[in-house]
Amino acid sequence: MILITGANGRPGSAVVREFARHGTPVRALVRNPEKADAVRALPGVDVAHGDMLWPETLDSALAGVERVLMISNAGPDMLETQCTFIDAATRAGVRHIVKLSGKDSVDGFDPERFRSSRSHEQIQRYLVASGTPWTVLRPSQFMQVYFEEAPDIVRHGEIRLPLGDTTLAPIDIDDIAKIAYAVLTTSGHEGRTYAMTGPEALTMAEIAARISDAVGGPVRYRDVTPEEKRLAWLEAGYPPPRASAFAQLFQERSRLGRSTVDLTSHERFGIEPTTFAAFARRNADVFRGVTGYAVTPA
Ligand SMILES: NC(=O)c1ccc[n+]([C@@H]2O[C@H](COP(=O)([O-])OP(=O)(O)OC[C@H]3O[C@@H](n4cnc5c(N)ncnc54)[C@H](OP(=O)(O)O)[C@@H]3O)[C@@H](O)[C@H]2O)c1
Repeated sequence: MILITGANGRPGSAVVREFARHGTPVRALVRNPEKADAVRALPGVDVAHGDMLWPETLDSALAGVERVLMISNAGPDMLETQCTFIDAATRAGVRHIVKLSGKDSVDGFDPERFRSSRSHEQIQRYLVASGTPWTVLRPSQFMQVYFEEAPDIVRHGEIRLPLGDTTLAPIDIDDIAKIAYAVLTTSGHEGRTYAMTGPEALTMAEIAARISDAVGGPVRYRDVTPEEKRLAWLEAGYPPPRASAFAQLFQERSRLGRSTVDLTSHERFGIEPTTFAAFARRNADVFRGVTGYAVTPA
């Protein structure tokens, strides 16, 4: 049996949907069963209830599991959550843990300078030391992060970020799900790290132009200072430490400037990379404010 954790979240639910699309049975770990109706409705999905921070809640979720895709939020408890889960999975006899990590596509980015990047590195070291065979998936920024700009797009026809002419190479979560599915259902991936980005390094003005084409109305990029954006994030309800960490992250991206595209994982698994234009067209109603989006910043 294959277990996907974080199955109510953005990347986790996309991977579970990919299993359902292929008709491959899978188990989905959720800590809140009341939010799991969409996952439960998918064919071939066995929903298990448990909390990765509380190993005693994981017995039935881990029973008979050979391979796990480990995902949890990028928040301050990610290190403890995932290290606790690695111990529980290892004790339960899981034979392969695939960790969803992250990478920044910006050249020269130092993972040790940001908490979630640093936590991913620490968890990876812990996973390697656990002795359980491992694989790490390292996607760049999710394209779905731009859903968080929908309120400014709807209200002002603008994307407001402190990025100047920095380029980023965001990836569609559905591409990550396809690569994760391939890694989880075929052999020979132990001890490997698969980095992945979207197919283009784009300035925010170029991203705004693609959203503008998709929604059929003007969308411009407006450069703001990190402090202006931090205050906007606070106003939008981000907790202060998260808003500060984001402002710092964007400042560093802006200082470094250029991103690199890495399609080696797409090519290895025969996945066609989704362009930002195709992603924006598919989600035009989210950028028009007609349908909702999940705000779970990482
Ligand atoms: N955002 C990006 O651009 C980006 C890019 C690359 C990599 N990443 C990485 O992707 C990962 C997930 O991203 P995200 O934060 O955006 O995901 P998310 O959508 O918030 O999903 C995380 C899921 O993990 C579940 N979870 C958290 N703690 C748990 C626990 N103790 N027990 C059981 N389930 C638990 C959450 O459950 P609930 O639904 O109950 O809260 C949620 O469904 C993070 O590690 C992040 O660093 C993000």
